[in-house]
Amino acid sequence: MVKVFFIQPDGKTIIEAKGAVGDSLLDVAQAHDIDLEGACESSMACSTCHLVIDAKDFKKLPQACEEEEDMLDLTFGLRPTSRLGCQVILTKELDGIRVHVPAETRNMLL
Ligand code: FES
Repeated sequence: MVKVFFIQPDGKTIIEAKGAVGDSLLDVAQAHDIDLEGACESSMACSTCHLVIDAKDFKKLPQACEEEEDMLDLTFGLRPTSRLGCQVILTKELDGIRVHVPAETRNMLL
């Protein structure tokens, strides 16, 4: 299993979660009742799965594809280490990854 630390919007509360290799960060968040909507079911059309990755962990991720970059450009509260949670897939190397849950997201489907 791969450990994931979700830092809640208050910046203080940290939820320790676990997922399997191959799960997305969105899958893990939803399995642990973390408030991440995922309205488009991972089709890169909503941005409600926006997460901000800790800088040191961000470097371990494969680069976002063009579609993900395009959706991130429209994401509310975009940060340099923002990613779509539905597109970040767990690997063993990501064990202990720290991700920040934004206070607000924008649903591009609406
Ligand atoms: S679930 Fe919609 S973009 Fe990730």
